[in-house]
Amino acid sequence: MSFKKLVILKHPLVDDYITRIRDRRTSYFDFRLYVDKLSFMLAYETARELSLKSRKIKTPLCDFNGCEVTENIVLVPILRAGLGLLNGFNRVFPYAIVSHIGIYRNEENLKPIKYYFKFPRLRLKRNTIVYILDPMLATGGSAECTVSELKKIGVKKIIIASLVCAPEGVTEIGRKHKDVKVYTCALDKKLNKSGYIVPGLGDAGDRLFGT
Ligand code: PRP
Ligand code: URA
Repeated sequence: MSFKKLVILKHPLVDDYITRIRDRRTSYFDFRLYVDKLSFMLAYETARELSLKSRKIKTPLCDFNGCEVTENIVLVPILRAGLGLLNGFNRVFPYAIVSHIGIYRNEENLKPIKYYFKFPRLRLKRNTIVYILDPMLATGGSAECTVSELKKIGVKKIIIASLVCAPEGVTEIGRKHKDVKVYTCALDKKLNKSGYIVPGLGDAGDRLFGT
């Protein structure tokens, strides 16, 4: 697998929580709970991509040379399952704008089908960082389609945040978008014939929403 822009979180709680959501006996209430905790940790790690500029303030005691984040932050959850990551990211980036993209996979050929996309008009696209929220990077088709849509409208800096990746998905993003970094909690072994990540956690959307 050739992809240098992959960051795999290393933390005992990440490994514990990922195991909980992989477990087939985990209820959908607990599944959501631990996805939410993982998404907060993922968001915290992806925040390392932000840059700072100086900001002079006055504390109650004296002048202080502080700093502030320069970028506009936009979160793009891929409907549906990407919504499971939104709350955690919103807590880390409370001032982020949320854009939505609706994509599902064709069950026969696994190609992404886009049915909705709404992105805010931002004057400063160059100074915008977009986080794509996609819990499962399987073939990578849904995330790749989202990156392409964002690039079409001029977005320059894009990060993909996922819970579990397959090598096939990571390779697909690396092949088509060398500039895009992927953050994940786990890199799994492979995809099975039906396009599911193995060992994986099953269908993320169904497990999140109890369907
Ligand atoms: C799932 C998941 C990802 C996508 C990943 O969505 O939430 O978005 O599959 O697969 P890919 O990398 O092969 O494109 P799904 O199509 O099941 O739709 P859902 O979120 O509405 O359940
Ligand atoms: N989408 C999921 O929800 N799970 C997988 O394993 C692959 C795609």
